[in-house]
Amino acid sequence: MSEPLWAGRFSKGPSEALAELSRSIQYDQRLWPQDIACTRAHAANLQRAGLITAEDEAALGGALDKAAAAFADGSFAFNPSDEDIHSAIERFLTDDLGDLGARIHAGRSRNDLVVTDFRLWLKTAIPAVAGGVLGLQEALREQAEAHIDTLAPGYTHLQRAQPVLLAHHLLAHAFALARDFDRLRGAFARVDVSGLGAAAFAGTTLPLDPVRTASDLGFSAVFDNSADAVGARDFALEFLAAAAILGTQLSRIGEEIVLWTSAEFGFATLDDAFATGSSIMPQKKNPDVAELVRGKSARVIGDLVHLLGVVKGLPMAYNRDLQEDKEPVFDAADTVGLCLAALTGTIGTLIFHPDRLEAAARGGAAGATDLAEALVKEGVPFRHAHEAIGKLVAVAAGRNAELADLTEEELQAAHPKLSVAMLDLLDARRSVSSRSSHGGTSPEQIGLQLERLGRLLDAERKWCAGR
Ligand code: ARG
Repeated sequence: MSEPLWAGRFSKGPSEALAELSRSIQYDQRLWPQDIACTRAHAANLQRAGLITAEDEAALGGALDKAAAAFADGSFAFNPSDEDIHSAIERFLTDDLGDLGARIHAGRSRNDLVVTDFRLWLKTAIPAVAGGVLGLQEALREQAEAHIDTLAPGYTHLQRAQPVLLAHHLLAHAFALARDFDRLRGAFARVDVSGLGAAAFAGTTLPLDPVRTASDLGFSAVFDNSADAVGARDFALEFLAAAAILGTQLSRIGEEIVLWTSAEFGFATLDDAFATGSSIMPQKKNPDVAELVRGKSARVIGDLVHLLGVVKGLPMAYNRDLQEDKEPVFDAADTVGLCLAALTGTIGTLIFHPDRLEAAARGGAAGATDLAEALVKEGVPFRHAHEAIGKLVAVAAGRNAELADLTEEELQAAHPKLSVAMLDLLDARRSVSSRSSHGGTSPEQIGLQLERLGRLLDAERKWCAGR
């Protein structure tokens, strides 16, 4: 077993418990492509600085190719002493190239290496998650277009409130997701900064060029301050915050799928590929995808809280606690990625039942607000109108009727400006069409929302393609 990278000043090896506690190779090995890329860029930097020859750089490149091939086909032979991916790759270079391998770590620390690997990894992971968000928005848009004429009950407090178009409801989720996309895009900008060249935290005496390394690695920017470069994890927190908020949004969609596919609502049926059965009740079709998405959002919230807790008490600059940054970030990216794929399939294949939706949209005195607004148009103060219509709702409920069944006398008793002719306003489709204010549910406003969403999705698609 080879010695730890820092063995020089120690008279004995680490205790088994310390070695076990220190080890992060189980999860950070997924950073191998990034660690190899950073090591290549650093070798080029050493060569330009005259610290290794061009032949040395080529030999290091060849050994890194070998390592990459071994990681890719799963044959990379880890040593029990490989504490993390950085030690494993450096050890591999030394095993392969002897003294030349031992030159690679000059002017470099695992502190600047790990943060740069991690940032590079997020530069792939964030667009992947954002692409998943875009896919879900597209599924929602397609369903909205397919249901451009379908009436649905709109809810507040989960009580029937006002009829809407189903498209309005679906587009509400698509627009909310546009903000999730935007948060990810914002996090990406702060992630896209190289830390390589900060060394342990205070720079190096060697004539290296971190600005060049940053551009070699495809970063848009380089750190301003070497201590900040190795000590900061706000970029990871920002990703986690975006992922956690996205998780809550997915959870809310999941919750609605659970409700809407129940017999009580009966608004939609799940495709068999996105539903599960019961091991004991043969008739059951369960919305497990939606429930798991709802449940998994708790994990992602936990991931954010985990890293917030790690970071909050740390003095400048690098502290070993920061090794705890990777698991929550990997977990959050994996979890939301999976949830997005499953939810996109669920939404894309969901069969809505317009008959059930429209029956529900017509029930529950859904047009009451429109009737009150009709009085407002007649010059009645809104509070008085609200009071009058509220009385009518009670009258109708008292004799088990709908508002539309009320008589001229009953209407007049509630307010002299009410008449049977106005009851047309209670028609759900008419009610929907008349709510044509900005962002409203009228067909004309839904058309505008679809256009606006289309432009947002084009911009999102373009952003993803540019990463
Ligand atoms: N595995 C460590 C991490 O993930 C790498 C950096 C270790 N640096 C050190 N000085 N011990 O943060």
